[in-house]
Amino acid sequence: MSTVPSPETAALLERADRYYVSVYQPRRIVLERGQGSRLWDSEGRDYVDFGAGIAVNSLGHADPELIAALTTQAAKLWHTSNVFVSEPPLRLAQELVEASGFAQRVYLCNSGTEANEAAIKLVRKWAAANGREPQRRVILTFHGSFHGRTLAAVTATAQPKYQQGYEPLPGGFRHCDYNDLAAVETAMAAGDVAAVLVEPVQGEGGVVPAAEGFLAGLRALCDRHQALLVFDEIQCGMGRSGKLWAWQQDGVAPDVLSTAKALGAGFPIGALLVGERAAEVFQFGSHGTTFGGNPLAAAVARVALRRLSANDLLENVATQAAALRRGLAALNDRLGLFELVRGRGLMLGAVLAQPWKGKAGAMLDFAAGRGLLLLQAGPDVLRFVPALNIGAADIEAGLARLGEALGDFLAAQS
Ligand SMILES: Cc1ncc(COP(=O)(O)O)c(C=O)c1O
Repeated sequence: MSTVPSPETAALLERADRYYVSVYQPRRIVLERGQGSRLWDSEGRDYVDFGAGIAVNSLGHADPELIAALTTQAAKLWHTSNVFVSEPPLRLAQELVEASGFAQRVYLCNSGTEANEAAIKLVRKWAAANGREPQRRVILTFHGSFHGRTLAAVTATAQPKYQQGYEPLPGGFRHCDYNDLAAVETAMAAGDVAAVLVEPVQGEGGVVPAAEGFLAGLRALCDRHQALLVFDEIQCGMGRSGKLWAWQQDGVAPDVLSTAKALGAGFPIGALLVGERAAEVFQFGSHGTTFGGNPLAAAVARVALRRLSANDLLENVATQAAALRRGLAALNDRLGLFELVRGRGLMLGAVLAQPWKGKAGAMLDFAAGRGLLLLQAGPDVLRFVPALNIGAADIEAGLARLGEALGDFLAAQS
C-alpha cells in the first residue's frame, strides 16, 4: 500500500511543518471525515479507528444524536461566560453529580489538564482552610502517571521526560511507585501529605491498572492522615473500563475526581467533581475560566454522559474488550510480539516482548499504512482505546489490519 501523499496532501502537510510550533509529530496523513469507528483521509483511504482521538471520541465519529445536540444548541446560544448561566451546563452539572456516586458539586472547564489544575488548587485551598502550613500541603502522585501539561499538572506527572527544561517546577509534590502501597505509607508517615492524586488505570504510563487493593489502601491511608483522595479519570473514566467510573471496579470512592476526554465525545470539556469533604472549598473568586461550562460543550456532554452511562453501552465495552483480547492473543500466538496484554475494558495495552521494546512507534507507522489508527503508551506498549460503541465488525477488521501491519513490521526487520 502506497503511503506517498498526493501533491495536494503533501502541500497541506507542509503547512504543519511550517506554521505549527513543533511540539507534535503527526503521521503523514490528513484526516477528512469519520463515521462511527471509520475515518477517511484526503486520499480517500479508509482507516479503522482504534485510537479515538486519544480516548476521546467515545461514541465514534459523526454520531447523529451528538450532531443534533451540537447544532441545535449552536442555533441558540454559544457562550455566556460564567457571569451568566444557561440551561445546558446547569443540567450537566446536576447530571454529573447524580451519576458520580459521591460528588456534591462540579467545576466545569475545557480540558483534562484544566480539571487537574483545578484539583491541585482545590487541594491546596482545602489544606489551607484546615490550618495546614504550606509545607504540609504536599500532593503525592505516582511514577508513570500523566496528569497534563500546565506547570503544576506536569509536576504532578511523575515522568521526567515531560518536565525537563521547565524547571523551576512548583514545589509541594512527592512521587511514589504505582501499586506500591508500602512506599505510600512511608511517604505519608510525616503527616505532610494533603492529597493523593492517582489514575485508577494509568494511561500514558503504559496502560497499567491499579493492583487489587491498591485504591482501597490509598483510601485507608488518606483517611488515616486526613488527606484527600483524588482520582484522575480523564482517560480511564466515562465507561472506558466497563463501568461509568473506573473506581467502581474497585468500589473505592474518591473525594475529588477529574474527567474530560470521553465526556465531550470529541468536543473540548473537562470537569472536576467534588465530594462532601471539599465541596465548599472553592468560593466566589477562588478559581475560574472564561469558557468553562460552555453551552455547546455542555449540550454535547449531556448526551455523552447519558449514553455512556447506559447498560447496553457498558455491556458493549465488555463484549468488544473480550473480542479484542481474544484477537490479540490469537495474533500473538502467530507472531509472538507481546509479553502480555493488560488494562480494563476498552483500555488495553499490548506490552512488547523484549526484542521489540522501543518499537511501538514504528509499529504504528505500519498500522497506518494498513489502514489502522493506533496509539502507543510509551515506546514499549501498543494502546487500544477505540470508541466505546465500536461494533464487532470493526474490531475484527482492525485486528485483521493489525495482523497485516505487524507482519509488515517483522518483514522489514529482516
Ligand atoms: C490521565 C490523564 N490526565 C490528564 C490528561 C490531560 O488531559 P488534556 O490533554 O485534555 O489536557 C490526560 C491526557 O492524555 C490523561 O490521560
